[in-house]
Amino acid sequence: MKKVDYYSMIFKRKSVKRYDLTPLDDNTLAQISNELNNLKPLYDDIKTEVKILSLDEVEVKKKKKQAPHYLAVFSDPKDNYLANVGFMLQRMDLFLSGNDIGSCWQGSPQPKEEALKSSDLEFVIIMSFGKPKYPDSMHRRSVSEFKRKSLPEISTVKNADELLEAARLAPSSGNTQPWFFTGDKSLIHTYTSKAYPKKDYPHEIIKRYNTISMGIAIYHITVAAEHFDKGAEILSDKGAEKNAPEGYEYIASLKIE
Ligand SMILES: Cc1cc2nc3c(=O)[nH]c(=O)nc-3n(C[C@H](O)[C@H](O)[C@H](O)COP(=O)(O)O)c2cc1C
Repeated sequence: MKKVDYYSMIFKRKSVKRYDLTPLDDNTLAQISNELNNLKPLYDDIKTEVKILSLDEVEVKKKKKQAPHYLAVFSDPKDNYLANVGFMLQRMDLFLSGNDIGSCWQGSPQPKEEALKSSDLEFVIIMSFGKPKYPDSMHRRSVSEFKRKSLPEISTVKNADELLEAARLAPSSGNTQPWFFTGDKSLIHTYTSKAYPKKDYPHEIIKRYNTISMGIAIYHITVAAEHFDKGAEILSDKGAEKNAPEGYEYIASLKIE
């Protein structure tokens, strides 16, 4: 496995939804397991566990989307734990993509009973991974291949386009891109949409996926900040929370220096 330039992968990655079901070799799986030790949380005080599960340990309704392996995340359900999970695991999406291994956040598959019982923490979400069925199309060749909202649609922040562009390209559940950013280049406030585009879907589930997606976008901002030799520190800003744009809910703020 190669050392990955996480920043450049933001502009190339793509969800892989069709897999070659041949399991990855033990050495590759050991290196992926090792990489899990490098995951950094957004909040140090939230306990999490990530387990590598095989297809037979997971209930997958859509057979076409089956993968040989899954990363299942479990967490203590503390404040902002969903954003924390999105933030932590998105590093794996970029790492796997950078090593030509496909991956995809998946809302519907669930670990089977045995795997669920293997952790004392709450099961949050799964990411599938494995060799892509169509390796030639697993990466995007240009930013124009991303179906995304424009920066002015998701942000009022001035002079921080190089950071917000990374958030703009982030994956989100159903590609809803539920995020909105305010503030300025040294303090960016993040909000997630309260709209529920899928009417037949339980609001609680959409809210859950939107918050995970927000954590993913926050991770992309921190990767971009690091690339431009800046630090990004997560904090909670009471004023920003009170001034949430209409239809949006405050998640957290990033101090950039
Ligand atoms: C929290 C979350 C849940 C997702 N759930 C599913 C899912 O259940 N099934 C699926 O095919 N894709 C799922 N996706 C992948 C999105 O459909 C995908 O990220 C989005 O369409 C953008 O495409 P891209 O990742 O290729 O850029 C999910 C993504 C996120 C972030």
